Amino acid sequence: MTATFRIGVPSKGRLSELAAELLREAGLNFRRSERSLFARCRDIPIDVTFLRTEDIPVLCAEGAIDMGVTGSDLVAESGADVAERLDLGVGQCRLAICVPEASDVKTPADLDGCRVATSFPNNTARYLKQHGATAHLVTLSGSVEVMIALGVAEAIVDLVETGSTLAANQLRILDEIGRYQTVLIQNRQCRQPELADRVVRRLEGVVIARGYSLLEYNVPRAKLAEAERITPGFNSPTVSSLEDPDWCAIRVMVRRSTVIEIMERLEALGASAVLETRITNCRL
Ligand code: PRP
Repeated sequence: MTATFRIGVPSKGRLSELAAELLREAGLNFRRSERSLFARCRDIPIDVTFLRTEDIPVLCAEGAIDMGVTGSDLVAESGADVAERLDLGVGQCRLAICVPEASDVKTPADLDGCRVATSFPNNTARYLKQHGATAHLVTLSGSVEVMIALGVAEAIVDLVETGSTLAANQLRILDEIGRYQTVLIQNRQCRQPELADRVVRRLEGVVIARGYSLLEYNVPRAKLAEAERITPGFNSPTVSSLEDPDWCAIRVMVRRSTVIEIMERLEALGASAVLETRITNCRL
């Protein structure tokens, strides 16, 4: 009998809720009872396993789980040999090397001989080597941002999302080491590749839907070419005839972040009845 397909998701922290919500929207419905490590999905032969986010890359590479939801920063740091199947469009952050706002340090090379505190020693060592600096690394599992104030280090390498932690600790970014986000990873010798592809397609449907809206509007036929330039769509817009032969109706996918600006441009072009509909899922 083939073992049940396992997906590892973060057991706690910010990513835990984001991952659970995404999986549920993609039709992977499970109920987690308190402190349990496993939950079986309804209607699809998949077990969800709750793990520490930082352990997910290595456990996936070792085959303990077939797929996993984790940060691409942790995949890079672990060096685990896994396939990154999908960017999940959440948890975007930067890994940055930071120094006190008042520090004289101008370039990474100035950190030669300094102490650098981080939870990302491998990424940090690689980066410092590239910049010709030899520093003493202080490896910690968290609260890295206070290490300069504690006198443990002259610089830190940490994740920056909004920048508020840096501001609160009077630190500034010296350089960005990388940009990361939450990803769906897969074991390279995945035992059930068809099921893995099904999971990818399901999650992709939700991720794309979150990034787009459906826009519908009427436009004078004479302005159709211009309207299509404003809203070229994911593939191409759907154009339908109206009773009035001088007008047509358009349905098109538009990046959600640009909807307002596009509505204004369409209105200026002479379009009417411009409607935005939020979509929750799609297959393109
Ligand atoms: C992360 C990171 C920073 C903070 C950055 O910590 O280590 O401390 O978020 O976010 P900001 O730029 O929006 O302030 P997290 O809350 O994940 O906990 P951690 O300290 O355990 O890493």
